[in-house]
Amino acid sequence: MKYRTLGKTGLNVSEVGMGTWQLAGRPWGWDAPDEKESLRALHKFIELGGNFIDTAWVYGRLDEPGDSKGAHCSEELIGEFIKESGNRDKAIIASKIPPKNRKWPAWQGVPISEVFPEGYIEKMVDSSLKSLGIETLDLMQFHVWQDDFAKDDGWKNEIQNITKKGKVKHWGVSINDYQPSNCLKTLDTGLIESVQFIFNIFHQKPTEKLLPYAKKHNIGLITRVPLDEGGLTGKITMDTKFEDDMRSKYFNSVRLPGFVERTDKLKELLDGEAKSLPELALRYLLSFDEVSTVIPGTRKVKNVEANTSVSDGRKLSQKLMDELKKHSWERNFYVDLDPSLEKDGYIEK
Ligand SMILES: NC(=O)c1ccc[n+]([C@@H]2O[C@H](COP(=O)([O-])OP(=O)(O)OC[C@H]3O[C@@H](n4cnc5c(N)ncnc54)[C@H](OP(=O)(O)O)[C@@H]3O)[C@@H](O)[C@H]2O)c1
Repeated sequence: MKYRTLGKTGLNVSEVGMGTWQLAGRPWGWDAPDEKESLRALHKFIELGGNFIDTAWVYGRLDEPGDSKGAHCSEELIGEFIKESGNRDKAIIASKIPPKNRKWPAWQGVPISEVFPEGYIEKMVDSSLKSLGIETLDLMQFHVWQDDFAKDDGWKNEIQNITKKGKVKHWGVSINDYQPSNCLKTLDTGLIESVQFIFNIFHQKPTEKLLPYAKKHNIGLITRVPLDEGGLTGKITMDTKFEDDMRSKYFNSVRLPGFVERTDKLKELLDGEAKSLPELALRYLLSFDEVSTVIPGTRKVKNVEANTSVSDGRKLSQKLMDELKKHSWERNFYVDLDPSLEKDGYIEK
């Protein structure tokens, strides 16, 4: 495993991290995982040199009547792993504070008092620490963001107080899907050290402004959804059926042919540089020096083994990177579902 510095935090993170949206409980958007296998996957990840684990208070939430647990099942399973393995020092743990109004993404014009009001931030930090069973988070991220929040002083004061108390070492923002510049004024405050954002072979827009900004200002970059929610694994075919969840909408019958056509074209590029689509997708991201870590959603030992094996320091050739530029496919999940959002400026031009 190779390691990279997470921007100004100075944390030495594994360049392949572990995303844990699907790890435990009944994640919205995904089929329920086998938690014993998830625990084995966590052990394997650390054993293979991985250290960066990305979670969130809401991951694994159980919403239905009769569910006995609340949210944060993923945090709790990671806590269980730390307790049983005694591996706290080997893991760099990043979690996220959900918006108080529980609305994803953060919408233009919605005041921060509805999303991250004063007092709420520390309450959620305490809740995450409790479910993880740890005393300090290495990185805490806001789970939605709007750059207008940069003007507010409440969150700035509160995060500095929380850091002084030793509950959180570093702060980041996990920004809205497909809006890679909706954080730059906030980064100018100097209080936020990392950005988590969608970046993959299809969604290449972050290369335009966010990557150059991060390079200049030493911001840590955590690239989420590197496999386009599974679209870039090459496993999804015209016959793939999902439960009635986020993926059934993401890979709906209108979009599915586009995925199959595009991934078939990408498969033609597989050769000595990358032998499978997930490998190509991860190597693409790791070929950017600005990227600190890629966090494929991983809950199976075989996927941990495949993903961590990509970290061997070998970058894609410039020729292949130039070719991959032609495969960008900018879409917007939310606007596709509700075209009226486009007029609200949801899509970043
Ligand atoms: N707003 C936010 O802050 C936000 C939003 C989304 C995601 N995230 C974070 O980013 C992480 C990654 O995003 P994601 O999980 O949504 O999407 P993703 O990483 O693009 O895709 C995850 C899917 O890829 C599959 N997979 C992983 N490795 C594979 C491999 N080697 N071969 C074949 N299939 C493989 C997984 O398989 P299985 O189904 O078999 O496990 C899962 O279905 C999340 O887990 C979460 O930590 C954050």
